[in-house]
Amino acid sequence: MRSSIHAENASRTAYLPSSNPGPWAYAQGDALSLVELVEISLTVNGTAHTLEVEPRTLLVDVLREKLRLTGTHVGCDTSQCGVCTVHVAGRPVKACAMLAVQADGEDIATIEGVAKDGVLHPMQAAFREHHALQCGFCTPGMIMTALALVERTKDAPLTDAIVRKELEGNFCRCTGYQPIVAAVLAGAKAMGSDA
Ligand code: FES
Ligand code: FES
Repeated sequence: MRSSIHAENASRTAYLPSSNPGPWAYAQGDALSLVELVEISLTVNGTAHTLEVEPRTLLVDVLREKLRLTGTHVGCDTSQCGVCTVHVAGRPVKACAMLAVQADGEDIATIEGVAKDGVLHPMQAAFREHHALQCGFCTPGMIMTALALVERTKDAPLTDAIVRKELEGNFCRCTGYQPIVAAVLAGAKAMGSDA
């Protein structure tokens, strides 16, 4: 990771009038003087990226705004709803609760990388078959959480109760959880899990 100060920084006084700048000019100069950028490397869905970000930038904002991977949604922005769930180093992470600099050097998977060659992943197909979505806003996060769950529990029976417990951090506002749980169990089975 490499840190640098944005070019605007070096010439702070250039934003100030030469005489009698007044409080507004100073305030603007202050705002412009604090843009520190940090270089990070991420591998997202198998593609390597090197990016410059502010230290305060959230991972979800890098994915959506810089890489245009808008399948990862933002709902609460406070780590409650789970719509921003992605995988970081194989583990499910709420991308609104992680700084981009914390993900430096990591492998990241988003919903865009789940289907292969235009064919839905078995978990995605199960959501469709079980009518486990209406508006679809929560669905990317649900599926990323479900895939991590199946991977983590592939050698043990996956039950209705376990799925409900594991989905506690993912909210759906419109479908209802019964079809979502049924889809996760069916998707796990299609993936060869002991569901
Ligand atoms: S937007 Fe990240 S948990 Fe809600
Ligand atoms: S399908 Fe609409 S919020 Fe879940």
